[in-house]
Amino acid sequence: MTEAPLTHLGIIMDGNGRWARSRGLRRIEGHRAAERSIHDAVEYCGEAGVKYLTLYAFSTENWKRPKTEVSFIMALLRSFIKRNIDSLHSNRVKVMATGRLDDLPQGPLKELRAAMKRTENNDGLSLILALSYGGRAELADAVVKIARRVVQGDMQPDDIDEGTIASDLYLPDVPDPEMIIRTSGERRLSNFLLWESAYSELYFTEVLWPDFRKEHLQEAFEDFRRRKRRFGNVDPD
Ligand code: FPP
Repeated sequence: MTEAPLTHLGIIMDGNGRWARSRGLRRIEGHRAAERSIHDAVEYCGEAGVKYLTLYAFSTENWKRPKTEVSFIMALLRSFIKRNIDSLHSNRVKVMATGRLDDLPQGPLKELRAAMKRTENNDGLSLILALSYGGRAELADAVVKIARRVVQGDMQPDDIDEGTIASDLYLPDVPDPEMIIRTSGERRLSNFLLWESAYSELYFTEVLWPDFRKEHLQEAFEDFRRRKRRFGNVDPD
């Protein structure tokens, strides 16, 4: 396998509902089928040497979905961790999470925290689950932390710069993603990693998430290798 061209990949796993509906199934069956794609992505990224894989599993806006669907996704999250934690751990995967985790129900939250604790010293792929995550919420939470320090007299407003904000995000030690993939043909970020994606390459594919396999990831990496990343600079002569 060729080496990964990037350190941090973000994926917006979209299209589960449409995948299920197109088969005459209930939407939740699409979420169930998503597990195979998650498995493939984790395995491929691990083998290729990607260091961080962030999966947008549940957004701050997803709480607005019907109660039954939300409960199903939360139960799936819990059972996904239970079923996969041994194999993730033996593959040296470090389980991490980003988002307003305290919003999660007790069951999945307990399972998640136990998985994070058990795998915290692993040196393989860091699998970051974005749960009750919103880019705007993350920025708002960072602003609150900074405002508290100002009120306490620990810093002055003029001291606030980009570095201050970056260091108050949920996972300040994780580098920005070089690429974000969104499946299912939608072309937007939907509140995913708003600050961190400032210079991310965006990759959109028509493939629905439950159909997304290693070869699709390989195509995305090949596309990434062809991108010219200038970060506001110009190409050297
Ligand atoms: C997007 O498809 C998917 C979601 C909002 C939820 C994703 C949840 C999982 C993959 C399962 C839980 C997570 C883990 C880590 C096991 P959609 O429902 O918006 O699809 P649609 O756009 O076709 O309706």
